[in-house]
Amino acid sequence: MSNLPHTWAIANQKGGVGKTTTAVALGGLLARQGERTLLVDMDPHASMSAYLQCEAGPAGGSWALFAKDRQVWQTEVCQTAIEHLELLPAVSALATVDRQFGSVPGMGRRLAEALQSLGGRYQRVIVDCPPTLGVPMVNALAACERVVSPTQTEFMALRGLQHMQATLAKISHSLGGISAWHVVATLYDPRTHASTVCLQTLREQYAEHLANSVIPMDTQLREASHAGVPPHAWPGARRAARAYDNLLDELLAAETQSQSEGAA
Ligand SMILES: Nc1ncnc2c1ncn2[C@@H]1O[C@H](COP(=O)(O)OP(=O)(O)OP(=O)(O)O)[C@@H](O)[C@H]1O
Ligand SMILES: [Mg+2]
Repeated sequence: MSNLPHTWAIANQKGGVGKTTTAVALGGLLARQGERTLLVDMDPHASMSAYLQCEAGPAGGSWALFAKDRQVWQTEVCQTAIEHLELLPAVSALATVDRQFGSVPGMGRRLAEALQSLGGRYQRVIVDCPPTLGVPMVNALAACERVVSPTQTEFMALRGLQHMQATLAKISHSLGGISAWHVVATLYDPRTHASTVCLQTLREQYAEHLANSVIPMDTQLREASHAGVPPHAWPGARRAARAYDNLLDELLAAETQSQSEGAA
């Protein structure tokens, strides 16, 4: 049996929709369940690294995935303040990866190969993607079993989701089939017409992919990120944490179902 970690990419080609918050929330919950979890920050803005207060070392965090020495990235992994939760931080130089390595053959699979070389060290890997399509996002998509696309419940976000769907179709074609895709409604505020109409649109247009769990607008999530604490461990963010808990259950159930279908 493969000892490859289950890998989920958190991706949407739209900024500020809750990707990093979702990555930290799911990673925090998995670690709480005792799963050895690696978070990978693929965003040059390094928001997840800042959230969990981890800084890259001399080899440049996840940038080292693209370095000549294939193993050096492992020296960049940082233990977070949370038991079972480790993080490969990002650096701003990741923004130059497209320019430096975009045309080098094989650069789209560096993360996938790195995870294959790990043995059974982690049970889970969660990759936080930047909001733009480039080598870092392609690496995440090529390495994952599942793509989770947080989508803010407002109309501008639907366009980002359409781009994401087109990217997945294209990448899936070149990889010979991708991963399951989960759309997650985020920053939902039932008091606003825009939010409720947008959720309805998601239900109609993405029925097959939309998670039942809806992440509510909860300003306490900002406080949690400021304190460097995952949502479940921030007492004020109970509502959002419960929604993330439900989301994790859904994702794990989908994973179990895929495994049993694969085994059948
Ligand atoms: N459900 C929510 N309710 C209220 N605020 C939220 C929620 N989810 C995220 N936020 C806040 O919204 C901001 C953007 O969230 P986050 O950084 O997770 O988005 P992102 O998609 O990763 O953004 P980027 O594309 O810039 O990386 C942050 O300040 C975060 O604390
Ligand atoms: Mg982010």
